[in-house]
Amino acid sequence: MKNRKMLIAFSLVLALLFSACTGTVPEPEENRDVLDTNTAEPNSAEKDQTVEPQDSEETASYVLPAYDDSVPSLCETYGDVLKIGAAVNTDQLRETSDFYQVVTKHYNTFVTENEMKPMYLNPSEGDFFFDAADRFVEFGESVGATLRGHTLIWHSQVPDWWFGGENGERATREQLLARMETYIHTVVSRYQGRIHTWDVVNEVISDTGNGIRRDNEGSQYASIIGDLDGDGEDYDYIEQAFYFARAADPDAQLIINDYSLESDPAKLNAFYDVVKALLEKGVPIDGAGIQAHIQIGYPVVELFEAAIEKLAELKEINPDFVVQITELDVSIFDWNDQSTTKEITPELQKKFAERYADLFEMFRRQAEKGNLDMVVTWGVYDGRSWLDNYPVEGRTNAPLLFDRNMMTKPAFWGVIDRDLSPEAIAELE
Ligand code: XIL
Repeated sequence: MKNRKMLIAFSLVLALLFSACTGTVPEPEENRDVLDTNTAEPNSAEKDQTVEPQDSEETASYVLPAYDDSVPSLCETYGDVLKIGAAVNTDQLRETSDFYQVVTKHYNTFVTENEMKPMYLNPSEGDFFFDAADRFVEFGESVGATLRGHTLIWHSQVPDWWFGGENGERATREQLLARMETYIHTVVSRYQGRIHTWDVVNEVISDTGNGIRRDNEGSQYASIIGDLDGDGEDYDYIEQAFYFARAADPDAQLIINDYSLESDPAKLNAFYDVVKALLEKGVPIDGAGIQAHIQIGYPVVELFEAAIEKLAELKEINPDFVVQITELDVSIFDWNDQSTTKEITPELQKKFAERYADLFEMFRRQAEKGNLDMVVTWGVYDGRSWLDNYPVEGRTNAPLLFDRNMMTKPAFWGVIDRDLSPEAIAELE
């Protein structure tokens, strides 16, 4: 309890000085809608949750609304060491919502969960829809945040027309390259100097440990575009994507992003080999994104850390090469578990809090070594996470640092300072 009081005093002083890591001034409490009942949402199940204000000292010290003044800010806690980000959806960003208060207090980096994917920006050939993306960028700028653009080239969430050619045939090499160039040019140059980091290609490495993803794993890029320069490799579409992005914004940070790098050494090696070969050819890749959709029990932190260290070796070829954690969430279910519900007992909270504390301790260590520059969580609170229903339909998961009511979980306290999470768990018991 003593720790906690000191922390509250400390965070109040910090709050007075900065109020948020992005440098914005939050609205006074009385101007804020505590009950966010007004948001027009596509899906009522995804509605921002109502937060019942609690008397922090009398009833709870650690289970508090994430926006509460006495709750320390995540991004201030990691200060200059590491940028802390979250995936958001623009329907959540109404300035008077609790959600807005939470994200502007805790994060200094943002990415759109879906709205900047090709199927939404470019649903039919020649038609671009930038309303949501523009809103996102305006929001980010208004709070002084670093913005990630997700994602330019991916085999998934592409519009129907993208791989199609004349008379029901597949697109030709020339057609697909021209589409890639038009798309990347149009999108990246629109936000030149405003979107700091782009996931230029996403999930391009095979899960078999054997090079890049091809038709048998749902990606047509390699078979349509193939080997342009005759060097025997069919990953030239990746090279082209980076060249197009570099031409559209010479200063943007260009990332190759993928999953299971932290947990599957064969995939990590394949990823590493491809990126190394591309860097040696002079392809402008500035960093690797580790998605990190992980589970409570796997992978062990040592394996995850070894992946960061290995990718950071690419600094030998490009001294500015960075590693980023781009989509972190921690499922409370093991990968093979097919169940839809799991009781969140204090024991589970403890394991989950230790997991997050271990991870962030390692992230800090890697950031201090100059290997890691940002950690982004895939969502903000358990009430809106893609891991409800995926990979098991009907599932309710709890993978994030704030619960379904946007209250602080013991794991949140463990990420602020691992010594605080036992006190937070004791309060639940
Ligand atoms: C997911 C979104 O979270 C879901 O809402 C959507 O239905 C499917 O895509 N890897 C990625 C992200 O790179 O774009 C994915 O996001 C999650 C896995």
